[in-house]
Parts: sequence; C-alpha cells; structure tokens
Amino acid sequence: MMHQDDTILYLSRKEVEQACQQVDSVAVIREVFAMHASGQTILPDEAYLGWTTADGERVRSLNMPSYVGGSVGIAGTKIINSNPHNPMRSLPRASGLTLLYDTTTTRVTCVMEGAYLSSLRTASVTALATDICKGDTITCIAVIGAGVLAQAHIELMVRRIPQVQQIRIFDLSAERVEALQQQIAPLLEAHGVALQVAANPEEAIRPAQLIIPATTTTSGYIQYEWLQPGAILVNISLDDALPEVVFKADKVIVDDWSLVKNDPHRLLGRMYRAGQIIGPDDVCSTSEPMSTATSAPRRRIDAQLGEVVLGTKAGRDATSDIILVNPFGLSIEDIALASQVYRIARDLRIGVALER
Ligand SMILES: NC(=O)c1ccc[n+]([C@@H]2O[C@H](COP(=O)([O-])OP(=O)(O)OC[C@H]3O[C@@H](n4cnc5c(N)ncnc54)[C@H](O)[C@@H]3O)[C@@H](O)[C@H]2O)c1
Repeated sequence: MMHQDDTILYLSRKEVEQACQQVDSVAVIREVFAMHASGQTILPDEAYLGWTTADGERVRSLNMPSYVGGSVGIAGTKIINSNPHNPMRSLPRASGLTLLYDTTTTRVTCVMEGAYLSSLRTASVTALATDICKGDTITCIAVIGAGVLAQAHIELMVRRIPQVQQIRIFDLSAERVEALQQQIAPLLEAHGVALQVAANPEEAIRPAQLIIPATTTTSGYIQYEWLQPGAILVNISLDDALPEVVFKADKVIVDDWSLVKNDPHRLLGRMYRAGQIIGPDDVCSTSEPMSTATSAPRRRIDAQLGEVVLGTKAGRDATSDIILVNPFGLSIEDIALASQVYRIARDLRIGVALER
C-alpha cells in the first residue's frame, strides 16, 4: 500500500462541491482578508498569458500563486484559463486547477478542480463586502451577465440575505438568461424570490441596492446616475463601471491595491496609469487629491477590504454612501478555501490518490 507522502490527492469538481458543503466560505474569506491586512500572506503579481487562437478568439491563462501563513499555513497556486467563446461550444468560459503545497517540503499535496472554488470564493468576497459595507436592507439585487459567476452569486446571496425579494437580471444573450433561469428556479421559489428579466442594464440597476456585474465586457457602460443612494456596486467583471463611477462614488474599496494598480488591462489599472487615481496610502503632491481647475481629475482609493475587516478603515460612513467595490480576485482566497476542502476530503476519504 502506498504511503500518503507518495501520492497527490486529486479532487474532481463533484468532490470539491461535496467538501464545500461543510465550509463557511464567507467566514474563511473574512479570515483571509484579516490575515492579508496584517501581513500574514504572500501574494505575487499574477502571470497573465494571453494568445489568439487559430479562429481569432482571444484567450488567456492566469497563474496566481500565494502563501497563507498564520493558522492556515498553506501555499499553492491557482491556474485559471478562459475562452469567452466556450459557452458556444457548450463549455464553461473558465476552467482551471488549484494546487496545494506542503509548506515544509514544498511538494504538491493536492490538485483539485478550480473553477467551482473560484466562483464560490468570488461570490463569498461579494458577500463579505456587503456585510462590512452594510447600509439599508437589501431587497433587490441587480445581476448583469447570466453566466457561471452570476449563478454563484445568486445562489449565495439568496441563501444569506433573507430580505431579498427580487433579482433583476440582464444579459446580451437571451439564451443565457433562460438557461440560468431554469437552473435557479427551484432555489428562488424556495426562498420566495422573484426573477425579473430586464430589457437593459439601466432597468436592472436603478431599483437595486446591490449591483453585481459579472459579464465579459471590456468597455464600461454603468452610469453613476443609475445608482441609488446607499447602493453597493461590486465590480466583479472589473470593466463594467464607467470612470465617472470611480470619480463620484463616496467610497472606492479594492481587495489589494498593489495587484489592482499593477494590472494594465482593467479599468482601475488603466486609470492609475492615466494618473486619474492614487492608492489609499499614496502621498499626493497637492493637498487636494480631487479635481482642480488646472489639473486632471484625480481620486484616492479609500481602502482595501482587509483594512475594513480589521476596522482600521471605514466601509461606509453614511447610509446614503454609494460604494464601489473592486475585487481583482486574490489567489489567497482560493488557496485558503482549498486547504479547507483538502482537510474535509481527507476526513471524508474522497478523491483519487495519484502516484507521484
Ligand atoms: N473579480 C474576480 O475575482 C473574478 C473572479 C472570477 C471571474 N471574474 C469575471 O467574471 C466575469 C464573468 O465570468 P463567468 O464565468 O460568469 O462568464 P460567463 O461567460 O459564464 O458569463 C458571462 C455572461 O456575460 C454576458 N455578457 C457579456 N457582455 C455583456 C454585456 N455588456 N452586458 C450584459 N451581458 C454581457 C455574456 O453573454 C455571458 O452570458 C468574467 O469577466 C470573469 O473574468 C471575476
């Protein structure tokens, strides 16, 4: 019989989902952000590999390593690949693997399907942001895009926020909306939540207290005036909000300023390069970081999520604050959740032991 050290545990998606039933994902994410804000994590920049397929499709592979210290004590990496045209092949846009390493020997201990974990951790970050930026009761949620991330968010939010009465959804593709509607109908019915299909994003967003764009767009369309006082916009797909939202929101909160500013592809990274935003602790050459008659408009990012978790920075000052949360997505979230999944999988004796 092979010793555990001679093998790598492989967990399929079904097994990851089974183990996740026993995990309070939002609590894990909260702890990870507290550790991140207190210097107990190591998070290098992601490696971004993009290429164009023979059919002219622009695709990408991201490799995101990280180390989570403290009570978690795990290292690993997340590989997540994407082809936005995959849904037309009846395949999910994103697929990937999460790998865990023994922190002493550095050997790979576990490999698991990564896309489910990625969608769960992303929705859990939104749930955490909603908790720590709490304002008026959330009765209406707008979801833009009806894909995998939309579904993960709806499933988590409906279970966590009992006051939700309505989800308003918009997608450019009516088929995607219909497919999602069928998937989530039993859950929505069980929780007494209505799904309203909107004719355009504005119609979805205006009545909502929580707005979740989860599209694949690279050009902004969400206007500031669509957001009601007190609204929280969690910018999952990172490019949907127009720059005016960044300038005018009462608070702009990121998950990790260093990763956000080092990324040249997404809205905030582009605005940083254009000199339009500065980091939470950047020293400003003028005493007034906002626009003046002589200089271009400039806005300071207010906080990182971990600082709000620790209470060193405020999430919300006033009930009427409009808050933009920009979660770039950190692999410490995947790795911390994956370490829980690995522990539970060993307890449940699920997965396949692969010979090294
Ligand atoms: N920030 C994070 O941590 C994080 C993590 C995971 C995924 N994401 C992002 O979330 C997004 C959604 O991922 P997914 O796996 O659900 O993708 P998906 O392909 O399953 O779904 C995306 C949907 O958006 C729709 N869409 C595209 N442009 C639109 C527009 N302008 N208006 C309305 N609908 C539009 C598409 O028709 C599609 O149905 C991606 O951009 C992905 O990169 C972010």
